Amino acid sequence: MKIDVSFTPLGLVAGDLAGRAVVVIDALRATTTIVTALANGAKAVIPAVTSEEAVRLASNLEKDDVLLAGERKSLKIAGFALGNSPREMVPAAVRGKTIVLATTNGTPALVAAQDGDPVLVGAPVNFRALAARARALLVERGALIIICAGRERQFALEDAYTAGRLIRAVKQGIRKLDLNDAARVAVALSGEFPSWAKALEQSEAARQLVDADLADDVRFAATPDRFAVVPTYSDRRIV
Ligand code: MLT
Repeated sequence: MKIDVSFTPLGLVAGDLAGRAVVVIDALRATTTIVTALANGAKAVIPAVTSEEAVRLASNLEKDDVLLAGERKSLKIAGFALGNSPREMVPAAVRGKTIVLATTNGTPALVAAQDGDPVLVGAPVNFRALAARARALLVERGALIIICAGRERQFALEDAYTAGRLIRAVKQGIRKLDLNDAARVAVALSGEFPSWAKALEQSEAARQLVDADLADDVRFAATPDRFAVVPTYSDRRIV
């Protein structure tokens, strides 16, 4: 059995992931926000690469049922109903809605990974449920790929830490597990911090959010197992 980690989705070429079991992680904040929206009753989340694409995708949907959401440089996109804060995804705002979401790194990573089957949306907030699904897939398929969204085309501490925790959680009881080099580094990193709170607080993304007055979002994202949903992405929608 083998687990491969990519610290960014940059090297992915169309078709690379076809038919392979994939987990996408953007702990701060896109995958945290998507898990929260779906746990709180959103009908679907449609990831877009750019805000222009989000507007285009939303225009094909029934107006009353759709919400545009997303950020640039951590801040809500002008004219969009919601930003990318998981704390905005409360039931009263999202229930029954299809959310078209555009973020800097997270939604492009999801779109880059869309050939996977399945593509699971993972974050600390759904960690235990995610680990159970990921482990079942690893056992069934013999391979799992973890794609970290990263940050501005670079390694992101919070995503790699989460990948490492995920590998540790799924490998229990599996005798022989091959890891690529990035997966080994992720596992080593997961031993560096005792909790998501401690890991996230060291990350550049967290510092940017704190500077934008979004420290509550970092705390929200760092609290594991808030939700038991494991969203999956196929046919351009996450449900
Ligand atoms: C991203 O996709 O780059 C992140 O989710 C940024 C953010 O915190 O909104």
